[in-house]
Amino acid sequence: MSASIHTHRSSVRDIVKRKGGAPIVCLTAYTAPVAKILDRHVDLLLVGDSLGMVIYGMDGTLGVTLDMMIAHGAAVARTARRACVVIDLPFGSYEASPEAAFASAARVLAETGCAAVKIEGGAGMAETVRFLTERGVPVMGHVGLQPQSVHAVGGFRVRGRTESEAAGVRADARAVSEAGAFAIVLENIVEPLARTITNEVAAPTIGIGASPGCDGQILVTDDMAGMFTEFTPRFVKRYGDLAGALADAARAYAEDVRKRRFPGPEHCFGVPKAAASGE
Ligand code: KIV
Repeated sequence: MSASIHTHRSSVRDIVKRKGGAPIVCLTAYTAPVAKILDRHVDLLLVGDSLGMVIYGMDGTLGVTLDMMIAHGAAVARTARRACVVIDLPFGSYEASPEAAFASAARVLAETGCAAVKIEGGAGMAETVRFLTERGVPVMGHVGLQPQSVHAVGGFRVRGRTESEAAGVRADARAVSEAGAFAIVLENIVEPLARTITNEVAAPTIGIGASPGCDGQILVTDDMAGMFTEFTPRFVKRYGDLAGALADAARAYAEDVRKRRFPGPEHCFGVPKAAASGE
């Protein structure tokens, strides 16, 4: 067993304490079997609304519903024993008012058993972050590129290349941290900006496309493991070829079925013992 493998459940407080310390390891998970495999290797599992693309074949995250997040979130929270489980509030479930956000977050917490919710948005969402945290809902923030606002802010480009844009992202991160977020995802921002934000906010920063200057890192598991191969953003490093492994297995199975090599006698019922054991 490697020294990095976890032996106790990470709480939101454990994540907060890691500010400035050993990097916080995070991955996404949407299903029980994947959560079971990842659980002991990470500090935090995010049930991200990226499941819209990864699991449901959508073009983006806007079609993801609260019921989808709750179904997948409950599967992950039920399975994870060591990682802190955080669930995204999807588009449309929290923006209208702090009260609407609380109603959605309360359902997510009560119906899944997760530790916290994540919401996208900066200064404009600070009041909501405060409203939730003051009512006992731990919140992870998400600034920089915010996929739920992709139509409003113009595409998936890197944020913070101009001074004014960098100042905006900094202000967003500060506002969300001061409002009580226990951690903040920084998505697709330039490295100097990620380092500045990480140095100036109290909450640990979790980067995705945001350089090693963050307190932790997150990737979409299916990107990291080579399962989702439609496109690979520059910030992804592939650590496996799950799509290739699954294709190889399917090819071998199909050939065996077509050539009547599967099922063999050992997979059948009511055949003489000698045939089943290959004697
Ligand atoms: O939805 C998601 O998976 C996310 C991560 C990419 C941070 O928000």
